[in-house]
Amino acid sequence: MSGDTITIFDTTLRDGEQSPGCSMTTDEKMEVAKALVELGVDVIEAGFPIASPDDFKAVQKIAREYGSQATICGLSRCRAEDIDRAGEALKDAEKRRMHVFLATSAIHREHKLKMGKDEIVQRAVEMVERAKGFTDDVEFSPEDAARTELDFLCEVTEKAIAAGATTVNIPDTVGYSTPSHFFNIIRHLKENVPNIEQAVISTHCHNDLGLAVANSLSAIEAGARQVECTINGLGERAGNAALEEIVMAIQTRKDHYKVGTNINTKKLFSTSRLISRITGMLVQRNKAIVGQNAFAHEAGIHQHGMLQNRSTYEIMRPDDVGYVGTNLVLGKHSGRHAFKDRVKHLGYELDDSLVQEVFDEFIALADKKKDVYDSDIIALIEGHVGESQDQWSLDRFHTVAGTDVLPTATLEMRREDSEEVFQDAATGDGPVDAIFRALERVVGIEARLTDYQVRSISSGKDAQGEVMVEINVNDQVFHGKGVSTDIVAASARAYLKALNRAAVEGASGSEGSTEATP
Ligand code: KIV
Ligand code: ZN
Repeated sequence: MSGDTITIFDTTLRDGEQSPGCSMTTDEKMEVAKALVELGVDVIEAGFPIASPDDFKAVQKIAREYGSQATICGLSRCRAEDIDRAGEALKDAEKRRMHVFLATSAIHREHKLKMGKDEIVQRAVEMVERAKGFTDDVEFSPEDAARTELDFLCEVTEKAIAAGATTVNIPDTVGYSTPSHFFNIIRHLKENVPNIEQAVISTHCHNDLGLAVANSLSAIEAGARQVECTINGLGERAGNAALEEIVMAIQTRKDHYKVGTNINTKKLFSTSRLISRITGMLVQRNKAIVGQNAFAHEAGIHQHGMLQNRSTYEIMRPDDVGYVGTNLVLGKHSGRHAFKDRVKHLGYELDDSLVQEVFDEFIALADKKKDVYDSDIIALIEGHVGESQDQWSLDRFHTVAGTDVLPTATLEMRREDSEEVFQDAATGDGPVDAIFRALERVVGIEARLTDYQVRSISSGKDAQGEVMVEINVNDQVFHGKGVSTDIVAASARAYLKALNRAAVEGASGSEGSTEATP
């Protein structure tokens, strides 16, 4: 890779997936890995193989399927058993990377590791050497580097490179740094680590102060040539640096950064939607690059300027990021062919029976709603993705609500492994609460609703509503998303999605070990 190309290291499947409620099944991880390959990501951090058998399996599957198209990376603590497990998971990947990390800051040394500086250096060297036994491509991360004494950071970095690390990643683990501070750290390493030219300098910034992207860009200015990031900035707490923001900043301000990436930016919007759908984490409307409002120019003065020349107020074209807006698309007389073409244009490949199913829903929607937009069609398609993994489906429901009645919901459901129809009813504070309780009764899971958000997908009072729920079951968090022109139906779908996720998790017992989580 040339010096003016930034390596994009995506950690959505590792650091992103660690975020509460964002865990993914192996099938979902495969779907994400495929999208990341199509996006043009250079390195995919596929997981933390020692954390659980499911993590191991996912890394192995991704390594086998995509290890010739992107470099597949697995994370390990500086422990022999972690490294051997990661090496085993990655061994079938043509391009594989071992990523080992060990905390170096005084706070972590004293309170977490209870290790002295010499011990840390020795352990890091030994474990980088061990990782080298599995591949030449070894990355070392001094965890909490941004709060590590600079002299010690230089020492660890130099020794890790001498032991064979080909990438040294500088994490701002707790999101404490600021752009000029982070610039100085990277510059200091470049100027004071004698063998620094033998390794690529990488950044890994968390967003606790909202500075993850700014810090990553500062690091690039100081000489870093790899950026670790996640789609939509997914990640624990305030998340990681957002891939789409870094990539578009570099592209839009090439005059300033003078570097490029291998990312196919036209895939950014669809990849963002995929992650949002799979994790159930909504993307805020005004989120840079991939938010629904990112390219909406409402103010009259802006619209006037845009009509004269788009560059008056537009620094990127919506097409550059594959933005799908509220284009008016088809009417109910458009026909199946036109519909199929539109689906293809939106980037979906559906088999004929699914096209027919979604088309029938589209006709039903067009009957209810005056205007059908691209975003409506995407919502219909996405409602079907992943449904084969759901144990429970909702056939029909009925709710009663009003000021002088006890809100009640009755429903009929099916379980994937039986023909039996399950019926139940419940009362609640309102129709949504009643239906949530009825769903819980049938599925047999008691959940606590911890977040509930409703928003419209497009404009107009007949717009489809999108509901996101977050539930807590036995201290585990699950998300679900549902869409309908009827808010109660959208709420029921979202809640059932989250319950289905909880049911799968309970059945497979696939909890990651928190002890092993960095
Ligand atoms: O934030 C962090 O320090 C990490 C390391 C494992 C790289 O995620
Ligand atoms: Zn991290």
